[in-house]
Amino acid sequence: MEKLAAFYFSGTGNTLFIAGKLCEALSSKYSYEIFDIADAYTNLDCAAKLRQKAAEADVIMLAFPIYGSSPPIPMRAFVHGLNKLLCDKKVILAETQYFFSGDGAASIGRTVRQYGGIVIGAEHFNMPNNLSDCKVFGIKNDEAIKKTVAKATKKLDDFAATLLSGKATKKGFSLFPHAIGYFCQRKFWRKEEAKKRTKLKVDYSRCTGCGLCAQKCPVCNMGIKNGKAIALNKCVLCYRCVNLCPNKAISIIGTEPPKTQYKGIPKY
Ligand SMILES: Cc1cc2nc3c(=O)[nH]c(=O)nc-3n(C[C@H](O)[C@H](O)[C@H](O)COP(=O)(O)O)c2cc1C
Ligand code: SF4
Ligand code: SF4
Repeated sequence: MEKLAAFYFSGTGNTLFIAGKLCEALSSKYSYEIFDIADAYTNLDCAAKLRQKAAEADVIMLAFPIYGSSPPIPMRAFVHGLNKLLCDKKVILAETQYFFSGDGAASIGRTVRQYGGIVIGAEHFNMPNNLSDCKVFGIKNDEAIKKTVAKATKKLDDFAATLLSGKATKKGFSLFPHAIGYFCQRKFWRKEEAKKRTKLKVDYSRCTGCGLCAQKCPVCNMGIKNGKAIALNKCVLCYRCVNLCPNKAISIIGTEPPKTQYKGIPKY
């Protein structure tokens, strides 16, 4: 059996769900291990360990949510950290999104190729929205997301079958998706991203200092000072804390905290 190392970043669980299911669907050909790359982003020893795992694998999977047609900052850092290890390595890309990225998978796939990696399949999976403090995008939970998750699961099974037969799609690599991903979103997002990383807001009339945000932040951006949550300036915009805070005290892109939080994928 070939070895598959799946590396994922996931703020609210959608991408972890896809990475896990995709590995299961490929298990007739691959023995697999799944790793959270957030650990590598904050810990040098862990980064070295994950690079070792990548070096030993026959195939690498990179799974990530899309933010403004861009991969999350930790995934970009992870791929640059792999650099020469990617040379001649087979790579599967799995991107999750609410509805649109253009070239989401290719946005990291092009970097993979620059380092000599061989993309053997790339796919986009529409999943529930987690951007909960922006009124234009609604938040759905529980039964209301069942159809979306079922559709993504079906797409995932089809993608796995094509990967196993060696004829998988490589979504996002042609000129048109590249152009719309860049001109409709990424060009503007990268500037916004840099600004928003430092703009997390805590509504102190709501925050009880429970510490959950600090406990769960994948990149240790949150802390507690004088009984209230504080943010450092290194948020990677994953929206985990915004959706988990029991008092809906946190917002980032929106001007107010969310009315409804995304709860993640239920166990049906
Ligand atoms: C800051 C931010 C930006 C996002 N931008 C996009 C986007 O450009 N296009 C899109 O379809 N979904 C967008 N989304 C939605 C997420 O990509 C989607 O819900 C994803 O599946 C979340 O994955 P996760 O649960 O693994 O974190 C965005 C979410 C966040 C938090
Ligand atoms: S999770 Fe919410 S209530 Fe708890 S410390 Fe963080 S901001 Fe405050
Ligand atoms: S502060 Fe919140 S949104 Fe930012 S990286 Fe941490 S958990 Fe994610």
